[in-house]
Amino acid sequence: MNKKVKKILNVKNISIIRDNNYIIKNISFSINEYENWAIIGKNGCGKSFLLKSISTMIYPSKGEVEIYGNNIVGTNLWDLRKKIAIVSDELQKQYDEYATVKNIILSGFFSSIGVWQKVNKIQNRRANEILEQLNIQNLSHRIYKTLSSGEQKKTLIGRALVFRPKLIILDEPCNGLDVASKIDFLNTLRKLVSNGINLIFVTHNVEEIIPEINNVILMKKGKIHKIGDKKDILTENNLKHTLGIDLKLNYDNGFYWIQLYK
Ligand SMILES: Nc1ncnc2c1ncn2[C@@H]1O[C@H](COP(=O)(O)OP(=O)(O)OP(=O)(O)O)[C@@H](O)[C@H]1O
Ligand SMILES: [Mg+2]
Repeated sequence: MNKKVKKILNVKNISIIRDNNYIIKNISFSINEYENWAIIGKNGCGKSFLLKSISTMIYPSKGEVEIYGNNIVGTNLWDLRKKIAIVSDELQKQYDEYATVKNIILSGFFSSIGVWQKVNKIQNRRANEILEQLNIQNLSHRIYKTLSSGEQKKTLIGRALVFRPKLIILDEPCNGLDVASKIDFLNTLRKLVSNGINLIFVTHNVEEIIPEINNVILMKKGKIHKIGDKKDILTENNLKHTLGIDLKLNYDNGFYWIQLYK
């Protein structure tokens, strides 16, 4: 049987303008079910603004964003945010740092920074399921402020999972993680992908591009420089042009890494 692949996200010619400057300009792409994407580009090229606009945190100044065929303008954002979740450092700083891990996960049900409403049995069960899925049951009662950076990131992924989104958008999730925590965190993401969740992943480090990521966007000065299949786009030449430096790109068994000095 030929199953029709659904389009999760359709970005049509969007631009974001602030103080008369184009922060991103004329960006178009679409993401289908079963696709995982990495976005790479220099500091300030517009990656975070792009992510905020595709996760309904901001409206583009021009163009359209459709999520499962619904234009984000004129659709209930509460419903769309159940399908697409975002995790970023910026959001990481907004949570109640004295809340417990479990309460932060539960706060995802209310789109709030704390839990102010009564939690029902189903919500409680889902939070326990997530703690187990992410293997952080032992952190359940810990205060967010006292967690390591990697533990905080897992907690926020947990919060993003409450409504079983199809797509999780991650803005540089491995920032501040040591090598062991990075591997642990990336393995958690691999497990989520194997359970049917799709990722959009912004990173500065190609070593974080897990084998499950099959598409890449290279951004330069607010525009898409290259886009497409990972094996065609993630080349030494393309990265040199995107990052504006000389480098050597290595590849082995599904993983990439960069050597800066040749
Ligand atoms: N109000 C504003 N007016 C003009 N430019 C702005 C404004 N707000 C943000 N910018 C600029 O928009 C650009 C894109 O920012 P964005 O945060 O999307 O970059 P980024 O690619 O995520 O960078 P990084 O890798 O450092 O996270 C930056 O150069 C920033 O200085
Ligand atoms: Mg950014």
